Amino acid sequence: MSTESDALSLAEAAARDWLAGLGTRSAGASASFDSLYARFDAPLPEQGQLATDVVASLIERAQGGLQGNAGGRFFGWVIGGVTPAALAADWLVSAWDQNAALYHVSPIASVIEQRTGEWLKQLFGLPGDSSFALTTGTQMAHATALAAARHRVLKTAGWDVEQDGLFGAPRVAVITGRNRHTSVDRAVRLLGFGQANLHIIDSQADTVSPDELDHALAAHGGPAIVVLNAADLNVGGCDPFATLIPIARRHDTWVHIDGAFGLFATVSSQQRHHVAGIELADSWSTDAHKWLNTPFDCGVMICRDAEAHRAAMTQSASYIAPGEGARDEIDWNPEWSRRARAIPIYAALSELGRAGVASIVDRCCAHCANIVAGIGALQGAEIIAPAQLNQGLLRFPVTGDDDAGDDRTEQVIAHVNASGEAFFSSTTWKGRKAMRVSLCNWRTGDDEVERAIAATKRALAAV
Ligand SMILES: Cc1ncc(COP(=O)(O)O)c(C=O)c1O
Repeated sequence: MSTESDALSLAEAAARDWLAGLGTRSAGASASFDSLYARFDAPLPEQGQLATDVVASLIERAQGGLQGNAGGRFFGWVIGGVTPAALAADWLVSAWDQNAALYHVSPIASVIEQRTGEWLKQLFGLPGDSSFALTTGTQMAHATALAAARHRVLKTAGWDVEQDGLFGAPRVAVITGRNRHTSVDRAVRLLGFGQANLHIIDSQADTVSPDELDHALAAHGGPAIVVLNAADLNVGGCDPFATLIPIARRHDTWVHIDGAFGLFATVSSQQRHHVAGIELADSWSTDAHKWLNTPFDCGVMICRDAEAHRAAMTQSASYIAPGEGARDEIDWNPEWSRRARAIPIYAALSELGRAGVASIVDRCCAHCANIVAGIGALQGAEIIAPAQLNQGLLRFPVTGDDDAGDDRTEQVIAHVNASGEAFFSSTTWKGRKAMRVSLCNWRTGDDEVERAIAATKRALAAV
């Protein structure tokens, strides 16, 4: 066998072993920073090594440093797992090594991306003539959407931003709520709007209210972009789109939705009410690597205004020929060379179908509710935010001493994580520490829910 074949066999065996152990291995990484650092603390090698040695050494040195988010007992951040077809397809993406930049560079990558985008619009119930981009993640989906928005609102104000940039342009306000994800802030910075032009509606409520939005838009008066939430990653709150978007329309603004995971609520008849009216927006960001359970590097942006989107992204060069009717990805995505990330998305959608995606969403929401209620019923626990969609918050208070309650909350989380039975991440909610319960993995079932509750019960007894 060739070295290449042996290296692939090693990787495949390690991957199979990793997946087979997801139910029994620690749900979180266990090695310390010092030990992980020491394993890789070596100068650049002068001479290369055999591929098999490289792969074997990587597998060995990764032990203990891998988080178990591919498994069903991982409830930290908002990190999905990976479906079998999406994983296998992702291996092929690397083996095929296609450059999904434009049709002539990889015909099949272009054709699959075109179909995948059409399917994603159908999945979410978004306008069929929308354009789309497939990005690294929601971060760059936001940047792409807000670039399209920037084009449109400035063009309406008589300014060509692609030609003339932002120096001297009318000031554009980006208006959003307090519970936005900070990837919105970075997109605003990357696009040159500046943090000072990010207007935060700092309401008491967890979502933006109609009056506040109306007031903020009227106060600014000039070109504006509104960014709304579906959903926030602490309490699963979705802004009331059906009311807010018509208000934004009256002010002639662009509405972008951060639907990193919440856009998937559109797929479920049980959860859809949370995002009623979401289809009225101008652009939407989401992550296939969250609730669709593809491997990472699968962000999605969908845009009602294809002309603005293309104007913001399109590229040409002397050495490329257009795809003549086929999709040239560089016209829509914020990158030139890129992996064929549509392929795992296509695979996951084919494997699951609409019903399978809806089932993952429903199961995650039900399991989230069960974990929050189950831990909340333990002595010494308090529910801060009951499950909404796939998110909920818990706290382990100390009577009369909020700071001690913060410490105890962190200690309980650390104890659960150290047990390896489940993994939770923490947050600060309204100034106080809380345990986040966040689910978006197809593998989570009743057993994983019970193990998480039991591990928390043991932690409460121990700290
Ligand atoms: C609501 C929300 N928006 C944006 C992001 C950023 O997504 P990405 O990490 O894919 O850029 C996240 C990530 O968890 C999120 O939950």
